[in-house]
Amino acid sequence: KKTIDDLNDIKGQKVLVRCDFNVPIKDGVIQNYNRIDGALPTLKKLLEKGAKLILCSHMGKPKGEPVRELSLAPVAPALAQRLGVAVKFVSDPQVTGESTKKLAQQLKENEILLLENTRYREEETKYGKDEAADKYAKELAELCDNGVFVDDAFGTAHRAHCSNVGVTKYCIENVVGYLMEKEIKFLGETVENPARPFVAILGGAKVSDKINVINNLLDKVDTLIIGGGMAYTFARAQGEETGSSLCEEDKLDYALDMIRKAEDKKVKLLLPVDHVEGKEFSNETEFKIVDHIDKGWSGFDIGPKTIELYKKALEGAKTVVWNGPMGVFEFENFAKGTLEICKAVADLKDAVTVIGGGDSVNAVKRLGFADKMTHISTGGGASLEFLEGKELPGVSAADNK
Ligand code: 3PG
Repeated sequence: KKTIDDLNDIKGQKVLVRCDFNVPIKDGVIQNYNRIDGALPTLKKLLEKGAKLILCSHMGKPKGEPVRELSLAPVAPALAQRLGVAVKFVSDPQVTGESTKKLAQQLKENEILLLENTRYREEETKYGKDEAADKYAKELAELCDNGVFVDDAFGTAHRAHCSNVGVTKYCIENVVGYLMEKEIKFLGETVENPARPFVAILGGAKVSDKINVINNLLDKVDTLIIGGGMAYTFARAQGEETGSSLCEEDKLDYALDMIRKAEDKKVKLLLPVDHVEGKEFSNETEFKIVDHIDKGWSGFDIGPKTIELYKKALEGAKTVVWNGPMGVFEFENFAKGTLEICKAVADLKDAVTVIGGGDSVNAVKRLGFADKMTHISTGGGASLEFLEGKELPGVSAADNK
């Protein structure tokens, strides 16, 4: 992939950068800065090169209409503070309207203009489906004089929208930013060409969210560790009592297929051998450690024997990819499994450790192990689709010229 390092002289040039600033905001206050911080290396480099930056991103799902709570306005001061330069925000519901065009024209070297939520225009999500979307993509590209487009929005790479894929048709030079480069390296190349032993840890509530991830990873890993709610679908498929635990009845055959596939491929597939079960879904509920889930109870975490088993399986691993918590880690009483596995991954020596998106990222951050991991993905859906082995439209569009 061509990156911003391949850009020649861009001093004084307008550069359009697609970021993923889709961050959680509550009462106007940003709750998590991962994605904003993730974008900084690219923005700093472009500023160093003397570019005039025009930044765009979506926020939430406003369905083509301005929704005040989904404005990108709160992102501007956060960027300004981190970059130490002024960031102008243009409150234009048309995103590429007259006021935006004017500000883009007046932009000076080392200045930043942040556009309004690209999804305030319904065309944004319709690229390739109607002409109006094509026109919108063209308007976005015109803001940087159809010159240089930088895609650094890994979190959005699984979408083929106007502001990440459409614009590439109208810009002369399309490259990826450092964040995108890093994500491709760790989620793509590491998985394709892993140092071995390669261990994947999958958790989270549902098997159905990870069907293709499990299938794809079984072709690559030496060991696959399964925890979290989805372990109960596997347990039930093998005829075990799972009480009131989460279980997807329609995925039992699939679970059996995966168990068989693991055998065929000589992949060690590990499932919980004991559990922390609780009565109700709350931290205050009665709970106990059991080898088999009781009727009327639900498994909310992996038990101590399972923790030991999984830790052993991680010993000596050279590549680890982790997606999804081992239990209901939001509740203290059911957080131990996730915490212990997190510690074991963090303590690995000379291993590449990749945390792939969503809840597992929150868990790693909350438990204080973020600095100890090689890479923490900023993608949710995008990182899952990457682990499925799919070609992501945002990634492929970035160098189609
Ligand atoms: C995400 O949060 O996963 C990305 O920003 C993509 O958002 P979307 O699911 O609304 O397209």
